[in-house]
Amino acid sequence: MDFMRICVDEVLEAAGNDMGVLVKTNMRDGFRGGLDIEDCLTVARELERLGVHALVLSGGFVSKAPMYVMRGEMPVYSMTYYMKQLWLRYGIRLAGKRMIPSVPFRELYFLDDARLFRRELAMPLVYVGGVVDRNGADRVLDKEGFDFIQMGRALINEPDFVNRMASASGNHRCGCDHVNYCIARMYSREMVCHKHCSGLPPHYPRNRGNQETRFNLLRHITLRHFKRFYHRPFFRNYPARVKRQKEATGGLIHYYGK
Ligand SMILES: Cc1cc2nc3c(=O)[nH]c(=O)nc-3n(C[C@H](O)[C@H](O)[C@H](O)COP(=O)(O)O)c2cc1C
Ligand code: SF4
Repeated sequence: MDFMRICVDEVLEAAGNDMGVLVKTNMRDGFRGGLDIEDCLTVARELERLGVHALVLSGGFVSKAPMYVMRGEMPVYSMTYYMKQLWLRYGIRLAGKRMIPSVPFRELYFLDDARLFRRELAMPLVYVGGVVDRNGADRVLDKEGFDFIQMGRALINEPDFVNRMASASGNHRCGCDHVNYCIARMYSREMVCHKHCSGLPPHYPRNRGNQETRFNLLRHITLRHFKRFYHRPFFRNYPARVKRQKEATGGLIHYYGK
Protein backbone atom coordinates (compact mmCIF):
# COMPACT_ATOMS: atom_id res chain seq x y z
CA MET A 1 0.00 0.00 0.00
CA ASP A 2 2.88 2.39 0.77
CA PHE A 3 4.37 1.84 -2.67
CA MET A 4 1.00 2.59 -4.26
CA ARG A 5 0.69 5.80 -2.21
CA ILE A 6 4.16 6.95 -3.32
CA CYS A 7 3.38 6.22 -6.99
CA VAL A 8 -0.02 7.90 -6.93
CA ASP A 9 1.32 11.02 -5.19
CA GLU A 10 4.10 11.33 -7.79
CA VAL A 11 1.71 10.86 -10.70
CA LEU A 12 -0.87 13.31 -9.37
CA GLU A 13 1.82 15.89 -8.85
CA ALA A 14 3.24 15.40 -12.35
CA ALA A 15 -0.25 15.55 -13.90
CA GLY A 16 -1.00 18.90 -12.26
CA ASN A 17 -4.39 20.48 -12.87
CA ASP A 18 -4.75 19.90 -16.57
CA MET A 19 -4.75 16.14 -16.83
CA GLY A 20 -7.07 13.45 -15.47
CA VAL A 21 -5.48 10.53 -13.61
CA LEU A 22 -7.42 7.27 -14.02
CA VAL A 23 -6.30 4.09 -12.27
CA LYS A 24 -7.19 0.68 -13.66
CA THR A 25 -7.49 -1.55 -10.63
CA ASN A 26 -8.63 -5.06 -9.86
CA MET A 27 -11.86 -6.10 -8.19
CA ARG A 28 -10.50 -9.66 -7.88
CA ASP A 29 -7.28 -11.27 -9.07
CA GLY A 30 -9.24 -14.28 -10.32
CA PHE A 31 -7.22 -17.11 -8.74
CA ARG A 32 -7.16 -18.81 -5.36
CA GLY A 33 -4.80 -17.02 -2.98
CA GLY A 34 -4.95 -13.73 -4.91
CA LEU A 35 -6.64 -10.50 -3.84
CA ASP A 36 -10.39 -10.82 -3.39
CA ILE A 37 -13.23 -8.29 -3.32
CA GLU A 38 -12.60 -7.06 0.25
CA ASP A 39 -8.85 -6.56 -0.37
CA CYS A 40 -9.52 -4.73 -3.62
CA LEU A 41 -12.18 -2.54 -2.00
CA THR A 42 -9.58 -1.48 0.57
CA VAL A 43 -7.22 -0.54 -2.26
CA ALA A 44 -10.01 1.34 -4.08
CA ARG A 45 -11.00 3.31 -0.95
CA GLU A 46 -7.37 4.33 -0.51
CA LEU A 47 -7.13 5.43 -4.16
CA GLU A 48 -10.26 7.51 -3.65
CA ARG A 49 -8.76 9.09 -0.53
CA LEU A 50 -5.54 9.87 -2.41
CA GLY A 51 -7.55 11.87 -4.94
CA VAL A 52 -7.25 9.97 -8.24
CA HIS A 53 -9.91 11.18 -10.65
CA ALA A 54 -11.54 7.88 -11.61
CA LEU A 55 -11.15 4.12 -11.26
CA VAL A 56 -11.41 1.61 -14.10
CA LEU A 57 -12.73 -1.61 -12.50
CA SER A 58 -11.04 -4.70 -13.86
CA GLY A 59 -9.70 -8.07 -12.70
CA GLY A 60 -7.27 -10.91 -13.43
CA PHE A 61 -3.56 -11.52 -13.19
CA VAL A 62 -1.42 -11.92 -16.30
CA SER A 63 0.70 -14.85 -15.15
CA LYS A 64 -1.99 -16.75 -13.21
CA ALA A 65 -5.45 -15.91 -14.55
CA PRO A 66 -4.95 -13.99 -17.81
CA MET A 67 -8.35 -14.83 -19.27
CA TYR A 68 -10.18 -13.59 -16.19
CA VAL A 69 -9.86 -10.05 -17.56
CA MET A 70 -10.97 -10.93 -21.10
CA ARG A 71 -13.10 -14.07 -20.73
CA GLY A 72 -13.35 -16.75 -23.37
CA GLU A 73 -10.65 -19.07 -24.57
CA MET A 74 -7.02 -18.12 -25.11
CA PRO A 75 -6.30 -19.21 -28.69
CA VAL A 76 -2.99 -20.89 -27.96
CA TYR A 77 -2.63 -22.15 -31.49
CA SER A 78 -2.92 -18.65 -33.02
CA MET A 79 -0.55 -17.25 -30.45
CA THR A 80 2.13 -19.80 -31.26
CA TYR A 81 1.54 -19.84 -35.02
CA TYR A 82 3.59 -16.66 -35.54
CA MET A 83 6.42 -17.59 -33.17
CA LYS A 84 9.79 -18.07 -34.79
CA GLN A 85 11.44 -20.30 -32.19
CA LEU A 86 10.17 -23.82 -32.75
CA TRP A 87 10.86 -25.00 -29.19
CA LEU A 88 8.77 -22.15 -27.83
CA ARG A 89 6.00 -22.72 -30.35
CA TYR A 90 5.56 -26.40 -29.58
CA GLY A 91 6.28 -26.04 -25.88
CA ILE A 92 3.46 -23.54 -25.51
CA ARG A 93 1.16 -25.60 -27.72
CA LEU A 94 1.68 -28.60 -25.49
CA ALA A 95 1.33 -26.84 -22.17
CA GLY A 96 -0.68 -23.75 -23.15
CA LYS A 97 -4.19 -24.99 -22.51
CA ARG A 98 -3.19 -26.06 -19.01
CA MET A 99 -1.26 -22.90 -18.32
CA ILE A 100 -4.03 -20.59 -19.51
CA PRO A 101 -7.42 -21.77 -18.28
CA SER A 102 -10.49 -20.56 -20.14
CA VAL A 103 -13.12 -18.48 -18.34
CA PRO A 104 -16.53 -18.39 -20.07
CA PHE A 105 -17.53 -15.09 -21.71
CA ARG A 106 -20.85 -13.43 -20.95
CA GLU A 107 -22.06 -9.91 -21.57
CA LEU A 108 -21.20 -7.37 -18.85
CA TYR A 109 -19.27 -10.04 -17.01
CA PHE A 110 -17.79 -7.68 -14.40
CA LEU A 111 -21.10 -6.03 -13.54
CA ASP A 112 -21.92 -7.99 -10.38
CA ASP A 113 -18.57 -7.13 -8.80
CA ALA A 114 -18.57 -3.58 -10.14
CA ARG A 115 -21.91 -2.87 -8.41
CA LEU A 116 -20.29 -3.59 -5.04
CA PHE A 117 -17.68 -0.93 -5.79
CA ARG A 118 -20.35 1.50 -7.01
CA ARG A 119 -22.15 1.12 -3.70
CA GLU A 120 -19.02 1.77 -1.64
CA LEU A 121 -17.38 4.62 -3.57
CA ALA A 122 -18.53 8.13 -4.41
CA MET A 123 -15.80 8.87 -6.98
CA PRO A 124 -16.26 8.52 -10.76
CA LEU A 125 -16.09 4.88 -11.88
CA VAL A 126 -15.42 3.41 -15.32
CA TYR A 127 -17.11 0.12 -16.17
CA VAL A 128 -15.19 -2.32 -18.40
CA GLY A 129 -15.86 -5.91 -19.48
CA GLY A 130 -18.22 -7.35 -22.06
CA VAL A 131 -19.92 -4.22 -23.39
CA VAL A 132 -21.04 -5.45 -26.81
CA ASP A 133 -24.17 -3.49 -27.67
CA ARG A 134 -26.07 -0.30 -27.07
CA ASN A 135 -28.50 -1.84 -24.61
CA GLY A 136 -25.58 -2.94 -22.43
CA ALA A 137 -23.88 0.45 -22.66
CA ASP A 138 -27.12 2.29 -21.79
CA ARG A 139 -27.77 -0.04 -18.89
CA VAL A 140 -24.32 0.50 -17.37
CA LEU A 141 -24.44 4.29 -17.75
CA ASP A 142 -28.12 5.01 -17.03
CA LYS A 143 -29.31 2.29 -14.68
CA GLU A 144 -26.19 1.09 -12.86
CA GLY A 145 -24.79 4.55 -12.13
CA PHE A 146 -21.36 4.31 -13.74
CA ASP A 147 -19.83 7.48 -15.14
CA PHE A 148 -18.00 6.06 -18.15
CA ILE A 149 -17.51 2.80 -20.00
CA GLN A 150 -14.30 1.41 -21.44
CA MET A 151 -14.45 -0.94 -24.41
CA GLY A 152 -11.78 -3.17 -25.87
CA ARG A 153 -12.80 -5.79 -28.40
CA ALA A 154 -15.95 -4.02 -29.63
CA LEU A 155 -13.74 -1.17 -30.86
CA ILE A 156 -11.04 -3.43 -32.27
CA ASN A 157 -13.73 -5.22 -34.21
CA GLU A 158 -15.64 -2.05 -35.19
CA PRO A 159 -13.57 1.10 -34.74
CA ASP A 160 -16.68 3.22 -35.43
CA PHE A 161 -18.79 1.21 -32.99
CA VAL A 162 -19.74 4.25 -30.91
CA ASN A 163 -21.01 6.17 -33.95
CA ARG A 164 -22.91 3.13 -35.14
CA MET A 165 -24.57 2.75 -31.75
CA ALA A 166 -25.47 6.44 -31.77
CA SER A 167 -26.96 6.39 -35.27
CA ALA A 168 -28.78 3.05 -35.01
CA SER A 169 -32.53 3.27 -34.67
CA GLY A 170 -32.61 0.20 -32.41
CA ASN A 171 -30.00 -1.81 -30.58
CA HIS A 172 -26.65 -2.06 -32.40
CA ARG A 173 -24.41 -4.99 -31.51
CA CYS A 174 -20.74 -5.31 -32.47
CA GLY A 175 -19.54 -8.24 -34.62
CA CYS A 176 -16.91 -9.45 -32.16
CA ASP A 177 -17.16 -13.18 -31.46
CA HIS A 178 -14.71 -13.17 -28.52
CA VAL A 179 -12.40 -15.78 -30.00
CA ASN A 180 -9.56 -13.52 -28.77
CA TYR A 181 -7.41 -13.79 -31.87
CA CYS A 182 -6.46 -10.10 -31.44
CA ILE A 183 -4.85 -10.91 -28.10
CA ALA A 184 -3.04 -13.95 -29.47
CA ARG A 185 -1.62 -12.11 -32.47
CA MET A 186 -0.32 -9.09 -30.61
CA TYR A 187 2.48 -11.10 -28.96
CA SER A 188 4.28 -11.50 -32.31
CA ARG A 189 2.67 -9.04 -34.74
CA GLU A 190 0.57 -5.93 -34.77
CA MET A 191 -2.77 -6.25 -33.08
CA VAL A 192 -5.76 -6.51 -35.43
CA CYS A 193 -9.16 -8.16 -35.53
CA HIS A 194 -9.23 -11.51 -37.32
CA LYS A 195 -12.25 -10.31 -39.28
CA HIS A 196 -10.22 -7.54 -40.88
CA CYS A 197 -6.85 -9.05 -41.74
CA SER A 198 -5.15 -11.60 -43.92
CA GLY A 199 -2.40 -14.03 -42.99
CA LEU A 200 -4.57 -15.97 -40.55
CA PRO A 201 -3.50 -19.43 -39.46
CA PRO A 202 -4.94 -21.99 -41.91
CA HIS A 203 -8.46 -23.19 -41.18
CA TYR A 204 -9.05 -20.21 -38.90
CA PRO A 205 -12.77 -19.86 -38.31
CA ARG A 206 -13.10 -16.31 -39.66
CA ASN A 207 -16.81 -15.96 -39.09
CA ARG A 208 -17.55 -18.39 -36.33
CA GLY A 209 -17.30 -17.71 -32.64
CA ASN A 210 -15.74 -20.93 -31.48
CA GLN A 211 -12.59 -22.62 -30.35
CA GLU A 212 -9.63 -23.92 -32.23
CA THR A 213 -10.11 -27.63 -32.46
CA ARG A 214 -7.55 -30.34 -31.94
CA PHE A 215 -8.46 -31.69 -35.34
CA ASN A 216 -7.42 -28.46 -37.05
CA LEU A 217 -4.24 -28.36 -35.08
CA LEU A 218 -3.29 -31.90 -35.97
CA ARG A 219 -4.11 -31.45 -39.63
CA HIS A 220 -2.12 -28.28 -39.78
CA ILE A 221 0.97 -29.66 -38.06
CA THR A 222 1.17 -32.72 -40.23
CA LEU A 223 0.61 -31.06 -43.61
CA ARG A 224 2.55 -27.88 -43.14
CA HIS A 225 5.53 -29.47 -41.50
CA PHE A 226 5.72 -32.34 -43.88
CA LYS A 227 5.83 -29.87 -46.79
CA ARG A 228 8.38 -27.68 -45.07
CA PHE A 229 10.80 -30.47 -44.27
CA TYR A 230 10.29 -32.32 -47.49
CA HIS A 231 11.38 -29.30 -49.52
CA ARG A 232 14.71 -29.01 -47.74
CA PRO A 233 17.55 -30.38 -49.93
CA PHE A 234 18.41 -33.04 -47.37
CA PHE A 235 14.96 -34.56 -47.47
CA ARG A 236 14.14 -33.82 -51.08
CA ASN A 237 17.27 -35.58 -52.36
CA TYR A 238 17.08 -38.42 -49.88
CA PRO A 239 15.41 -41.10 -52.06
CA ALA A 240 17.62 -40.32 -55.10
CA ARG A 241 20.81 -40.42 -53.05
CA VAL A 242 19.92 -43.67 -51.36
CA LYS A 243 19.19 -45.15 -54.76
CA ARG A 244 22.56 -43.96 -56.11
CA GLN A 245 24.39 -45.37 -53.11
CA LYS A 246 22.64 -48.68 -53.41
CA GLU A 247 23.56 -48.89 -57.08
CA ALA A 248 27.18 -47.90 -56.38
CA THR A 249 27.56 -50.50 -53.64
CA GLY A 250 25.50 -53.26 -55.20
CA GLY A 251 22.72 -52.76 -52.67
CA LEU A 252 24.97 -53.20 -49.65
CA ILE A 253 24.37 -49.76 -48.22
CA HIS A 254 20.86 -49.33 -46.97
CA TYR A 255 21.26 -46.17 -45.06
CA TYR A 256 21.91 -42.58 -45.88
CA GLY A 257 25.38 -41.55 -44.71
CA LYS A 258 26.76 -38.04 -44.77
C1 LIG B 1 -5.76 -6.73 -27.80
C2 LIG B 1 -6.01 -6.35 -26.37
C3 LIG B 1 -4.97 -5.83 -25.60
C4 LIG B 1 -5.18 -5.50 -24.27
N1 LIG B 1 -4.15 -4.99 -23.52
C5 LIG B 1 -4.38 -4.61 -22.25
C6 LIG B 1 -3.35 -4.01 -21.48
O1 LIG B 1 -2.23 -3.83 -21.94
N2 LIG B 1 -3.63 -3.66 -20.20
C7 LIG B 1 -4.87 -3.85 -19.67
O2 LIG B 1 -5.09 -3.50 -18.50
N3 LIG B 1 -5.86 -4.42 -20.37
C8 LIG B 1 -5.65 -4.78 -21.63
N4 LIG B 1 -6.65 -5.36 -22.36
C9 LIG B 1 -7.95 -5.61 -21.69
C10 LIG B 1 -8.95 -4.49 -22.03
O3 LIG B 1 -8.50 -3.25 -21.58
C11 LIG B 1 -10.32 -4.78 -21.41
O4 LIG B 1 -10.18 -4.74 -20.00
C12 LIG B 1 -10.85 -6.12 -21.82
O5 LIG B 1 -10.66 -6.31 -23.20
C13 LIG B 1 -12.33 -6.26 -21.50
O6 LIG B 1 -13.07 -5.37 -22.24
P1 LIG B 1 -13.93 -5.80 -23.55
O7 LIG B 1 -14.86 -6.91 -23.13
O8 LIG B 1 -14.64 -4.54 -23.93
O9 LIG B 1 -12.95 -6.26 -24.57
C14 LIG B 1 -6.46 -5.69 -23.69
C15 LIG B 1 -7.50 -6.20 -24.47
C16 LIG B 1 -7.29 -6.53 -25.80
C17 LIG B 1 -8.43 -7.09 -26.60
S1 SF4 C 1 -10.07 -10.74 -33.15
FE1 SF4 C 1 -11.83 -9.40 -33.54
S2 SF4 C 1 -13.64 -10.72 -33.36
FE2 SF4 C 1 -11.88 -11.82 -32.45
S3 SF4 C 1 -11.99 -11.30 -30.26
FE3 SF4 C 1 -10.60 -9.80 -31.22
S4 SF4 C 1 -11.91 -8.08 -31.76
FE4 SF4 C 1 -13.26 -9.80 -31.36
